[in-house]
Amino acid sequence: MERKVVVLGTGGTIAGTSDMAGANVGYTAGQIGVEQLLSAIPALARATGASLVAEQIAQIDSKDMGFEVWARLAQRCALHLADPLVAGIVITHGTDTLEETAWLLANVLDTTKPVVLTCAMRPATALAPDGPQNLLDAVAVASTPGARGVVAVAAGELHGARQVQKVHPYRVNAFSSGEAGPLGWVEEGRVRLEQNWPLAQCSQALTAIETIVNTPAWPRVEIVLNHAGASGALVDALVRDGVQGLVVACTGNGTIHHALEAALLRAQAGGVRVLRSTRCAQGQVLPKPGDALPDARGLPPVQARISLMLALF
Ligand code: SIN
Repeated sequence: MERKVVVLGTGGTIAGTSDMAGANVGYTAGQIGVEQLLSAIPALARATGASLVAEQIAQIDSKDMGFEVWARLAQRCALHLADPLVAGIVITHGTDTLEETAWLLANVLDTTKPVVLTCAMRPATALAPDGPQNLLDAVAVASTPGARGVVAVAAGELHGARQVQKVHPYRVNAFSSGEAGPLGWVEEGRVRLEQNWPLAQCSQALTAIETIVNTPAWPRVEIVLNHAGASGALVDALVRDGVQGLVVACTGNGTIHHALEAALLRAQAGGVRVLRSTRCAQGQVLPKPGDALPDARGLPPVQARISLMLALF
């Protein structure tokens, strides 16, 4: 029986179009269906020994990503991954929140198969769109024997869900794994692996999927930023509004303006879960004995928020 690679479309610039011929900015994301994206790459059928199955999960700009799409996406991934004929999954996604979706899926999917997110920085109507090559590379990764875990593929680089971050708003190689570096590269349809494939994050995965699908309101976790002149006003307002968790994008090694810190300590004493991350692009908060607010164990703020939401279900 022929192996399959399932390609799930969610929108993004990779499916974006512009009225201005060749434009790289000023386009509308999420316009072209995933079937059409695939059929625009004749090399795809030749490049993989698997048959491709397309499914449209959503058609959005990923700045608007939300819980309903996440739940549907996770559910469809789990269903397809359980099919023995499915070698792996590719997800076409906007670049803006790709790292959040990747980290969510890494935590709720318990699979030894690859789940490969890909994207584009230029719309499909650009003079030199990057989407087709990224999609070709992602399908190559999803059908690579031994590939596993949730990864992202863009501009020839392969990143793990734990490390990947969008670091540039315009250039085509917009993603980085920071100090860890990419897991590897995709070159002419082959993966050159530099590090191990990522392991599944969650042993409770199946329960997690059922929970996130069946719980109408996800736990409310917000991110607050420490900065010069910060106050506790936002935190106090969020607590009054029923927030359940707060991630603080701290300065440096987890430091917080004394006024904001006082509000966070009040929130924590009142039962709100608080985690300290850092607004620094690299490195992580190093915990020390006696820290009154726990650290996010090296996760950047947006990924720490996902972990905290899942912990609060
Ligand atoms: C989006 O995230 O959906 C729009 C931006 C992009 O994909 O680059």
